[in-house]
Amino acid sequence: MERTLVLIKPDGVRRNLIGDIIKRYEMKGLRVASIKSVYPTAEMAKEHYKEHIGKDFFEKLIRFLTSGMVIAIILEGQNAVKCARIINGSTKYQDALPGSIRGDYAFDETENIVHASDSTESAEREIKIWFPEIC
Ligand code: TYD
Ligand code: MG
Repeated sequence: MERTLVLIKPDGVRRNLIGDIIKRYEMKGLRVASIKSVYPTAEMAKEHYKEHIGKDFFEKLIRFLTSGMVIAIILEGQNAVKCARIINGSTKYQDALPGSIRGDYAFDETENIVHASDSTESAEREIKIWFPEIC
């Protein structure tokens, strides 16, 4: 069974979307294997987004991810990585289709509600950051 790491980012929590977001993954058949609330440190946020170090949006992205509570979730199921990213929708809010989480709710480049790992390798790396007690 494949697993992936999903984050409900601080804007999703502030907008009371936790239940709606989790429901969408569950409707598709993905299972919540672990879940926790976290107030990420800058170190955690930078490690999570380390592929983007040096890009013009990096500092803003770290400020945003550390601006409040995050819900970290390990989802498991067939093709969990691909399925979670399709349910999330395109990174850019203007490209995200209605019916996806970002298509329905996002309207900002940086604040786009959710994260999901982009490969099984990324998923295993990210799970270690957010769930160091599991692995
Ligand atoms: P990225 O990994 O490209 O997108 P995804 O979340 O779909 O895997 O980028 C990480 C986050 O960085 C993205 O969710 C929002 C933010 N971001 C910006 O603020 N500006 C940008 O130009 C890009 C590409 C991303
Ligand atoms: Mg990404």
